[in-house]
Amino acid sequence: MQIFKIAVLISGNGSNLQAIIDNFRDEVGIEISSVISNKADAYGLTRANREGIETHIVNHEDYSSREDFEKELIRILKKESPDLIVLAGFMRILSNLFISEYYGKLINIHPSLLPNYKGMDTHRRVLENNEEFHGVTVHYVDNSLDGGPICAQSKIKIDTKDQKKLEEQIHELEYKLYPDVIKNIASGKMRLYRGEVVKQ
Ligand code: GAR
Repeated sequence: MQIFKIAVLISGNGSNLQAIIDNFRDEVGIEISSVISNKADAYGLTRANREGIETHIVNHEDYSSREDFEKELIRILKKESPDLIVLAGFMRILSNLFISEYYGKLINIHPSLLPNYKGMDTHRRVLENNEEFHGVTVHYVDNSLDGGPICAQSKIKIDTKDQKKLEEQIHELEYKLYPDVIKNIASGKMRLYRGEVVKQ
């Protein structure tokens, strides 16, 4: 049986990683083959270690250029040849070197309804602007910042002014949406074809 291998790149808490782990723990045919963090103290590494998932730390500060940092990521990933690379709170901008290597196999989750609210601090900005809706987006990664063909979005009507509460609500959407998209890609129901997301 062919195993669909996922590599997850993180920088911090890794609660999305946890949701992915929990969703696929009993799923035969889908495996998290490795977790890579650019931060040695990322709590997501603890989550991966306690599941027995292989972890790597590639600290961007140890490299003199973005290119060298990404070359090391690629070197590690090449050894495992994952079918999909999942950015889950990975807070480094990736250059064309990395993206062109994995275009079509690289997805990201962003806490906003893209193309609105690219970048950081989305919950605060959404509240400040008195938006009616907020949400999350999973997208294939291309060369644009928080851009690329959209796989799926979930949204909620905002019913709070409390940023922490809004963030928690958004996290709950993420924990469902990201595993759903990964499942669809793994089963061949979703893929990138000529720059567009095709769903079957
Ligand atoms: C998530 O909310 C994710 O959408 C966001 O970082 C958080 C990571 O949380 N990603 C971005 O902002 C990417 N631009 P986690 O480490 O607990 O999964």
